[in-house]
Amino acid sequence: MKHNVLLILPTIQPNGVEYLEENSNVFYAPDGKKETLIHYINEHQIEAVVTRSEIIDKEIMDACDSLKVIGQHGVGLDNIDVNEAGKHGIKVLNVPDGNYISVAEHTIAFILALSRSFRINDCSVRSDAWFSRENRYTMEVYKKNLLIVGLGRIGRAVAERAKAFGMHLMAYDGFVSKEAMEQSGVEKINVLEEGIKKADFITLHVPLTEETKGMVSGEQFKLMKSSAYIINMGRGAVIDEKALIEALQNGEIAGAGLDVLETEPPRTDHPLFSMDQVIFTPHIGGDTREAKMRTSSLLSHSMIEVMEGQNVYNWVNRK
Ligand SMILES: NC(=O)c1ccc[n+]([C@@H]2O[C@H](COP(=O)([O-])OP(=O)(O)OC[C@H]3O[C@@H](n4cnc5c(N)ncnc54)[C@H](O)[C@@H]3O)[C@@H](O)[C@H]2O)c1
Repeated sequence: MKHNVLLILPTIQPNGVEYLEENSNVFYAPDGKKETLIHYINEHQIEAVVTRSEIIDKEIMDACDSLKVIGQHGVGLDNIDVNEAGKHGIKVLNVPDGNYISVAEHTIAFILALSRSFRINDCSVRSDAWFSRENRYTMEVYKKNLLIVGLGRIGRAVAERAKAFGMHLMAYDGFVSKEAMEQSGVEKINVLEEGIKKADFITLHVPLTEETKGMVSGEQFKLMKSSAYIINMGRGAVIDEKALIEALQNGEIAGAGLDVLETEPPRTDHPLFSMDQVIFTPHIGGDTREAKMRTSSLLSHSMIEVMEGQNVYNWVNRK
């Protein structure tokens, strides 16, 4: 018997959709609003839903008895109440290994773009300020200190790539041993602030949790080198945005590369937008063509497998 699966428009890549259509009964919700999801899940007795950023909370779970599987297209699960899902007997799947290479490459792109002030220099060429180039501070990344906060899949992939540039690698991650870090050529930092003081580049790759929320705030910015750059590829709220704005205004750091913001999409008059030492991308670190295809395929296969009673590797709330 085929299972009923809900996709939320705009949905995952065609390769995953095709696989789900071949192996289940697929229904489409026009948007991810709570009332829409409750309506579609109940109307079609949906067993599994594919999510990206849609909020799946207790209210939805209480209202939808047929729901048994939530498949998150990506690694971050902060839009899903995983604990509550466990209480409801709902299996939550994610795709931890679909886009880490893309996010790591994006991080390296930020490091290089910041070190050469790409945004500022691009603007000066376009605004007939070619000869102001002597004033543009650029530097090599060779032998510079890179602090990786969160040495998981993405952090490790960043380390491998930064090593090729001859950067000195440090990482802050309480869950990875000194020995494991040393094997990858990374110096273990036990106290975040100690790493922050030494770093020329700080890149954030931790999940958003109670512990990591605001982990880089005013106190940490004050310790940074004034020539240091911070990159956030994790979740916006890991940086206290008000403190970041103050640090940039006061010249406590040189600049930032931000793929994520506290509120997404941000308001159009966001104070960071007036700062030309900050580079933004709209939360697309993991959104390359290759990563989306890979994630779509891995998720659709594992969702069918788990609905058929198999034990899949990416079932995050397995008891
Ligand atoms: N920008 C994007 O497009 C994008 C794409 C994918 C993932 N992400 C974000 O990147 C995060 C990391 O992804 P990943 O695949 O590397 O996950 P991962 O689980 O493999 O690694 C996360 C690492 O963070 C460490 N960590 C957790 N709490 C910590 C703390 N308080 N202090 C220090 N270290 C801590 C863990 O020990 C782990 O090693 C995700 O949770 C997600 O929020 C962003």
